Amino acid sequence: MRDDAVIDDAAVVARLRSAGCVFAEDEAALLLSAATSRGELDALVERRASGEPLEQVVGWAEFAGLRILVDPGVFVPRRRSEFLVSVAVGLAGWRPGNREIPVVVDLCCGTGALGLAVANGLAGWADLHAADLDPAAAACARRNVEPAGGQVYVGDLFGALPGGLRGRADILICNAPYVPTGDVAFLPAEARDHEPLVALDGGLDGLAILRRAASDAPGWLAPGGVLLVETSDRQAPEMTGAMAAAGLSPAIHTDEDWGATVVTGRAADR
Ligand SMILES: C[S@@+](CC[C@H](N)C(=O)[O-])C[C@H]1O[C@@H](n2cnc3c(N)ncnc32)[C@H](O)[C@@H]1O
Repeated sequence: MRDDAVIDDAAVVARLRSAGCVFAEDEAALLLSAATSRGELDALVERRASGEPLEQVVGWAEFAGLRILVDPGVFVPRRRSEFLVSVAVGLAGWRPGNREIPVVVDLCCGTGALGLAVANGLAGWADLHAADLDPAAAACARRNVEPAGGQVYVGDLFGALPGGLRGRADILICNAPYVPTGDVAFLPAEARDHEPLVALDGGLDGLAILRRAASDAPGWLAPGGVLLVETSDRQAPEMTGAMAAAGLSPAIHTDEDWGATVVTGRAADR
């Protein structure tokens, strides 16, 4: 630690507080530990003070007990999505026929945090595949997923996946954008200014991408496999309808603490 660390600490807290950061002390501690020089510290503090998400500034986010690398311009995994992870792990554990390593597919993966956390929740006992339309997100996901033995692809939903995965996904996560187009303007500036529109805008009613995912999922799910998506509580009934229309058995899961809603659709056991 530098001798002037205490002075830096107070100055950084003051700068962050003046920029409107509510948790200025905690954020200052993270920025101080991320910087390796005074110049770098100044640059990081100014990026944060100008509204860039803390996770993009320090380069990582905590998610489900894991340290996930986050690149600038890539969607920051939200803590409420830990609920989807816990539902996925529970459903994977419940399935009969665990004789083989479960195949976990994470579509619209962003940093890859959710698939990685599910694999971690299965004690690493998973064949992990992740994909995203945005090459920057896929590059970030590669840095997280490949060291854990997973693979990352670039492309539109299932179009990104190798054909060999057809009919093999035991757990199929798709945390796609689900904000209705008209509501994007009301998101916090941190999201609007520093996360790409493709990561936020879910179309007219927010379900455009998720409907496509539900419709095509049966071709990629293993017998008894489950599709899991996050929605708002208002969107959940419409999403269960889309799952049912695709031939999946739908269910809604909610967690009041996180304010999270997850819709699942299970393929028939054959
Ligand atoms: C809300 S972010 C979620 C990222 C990640 N699943 C998470 O929870 O942290 C949505 C992600 O979906 C990706 N995306 C949007 N449309 C897509 C599509 N048609 N096919 C694949 N990925 C898409 C975006 O690039 C973005 O990374």
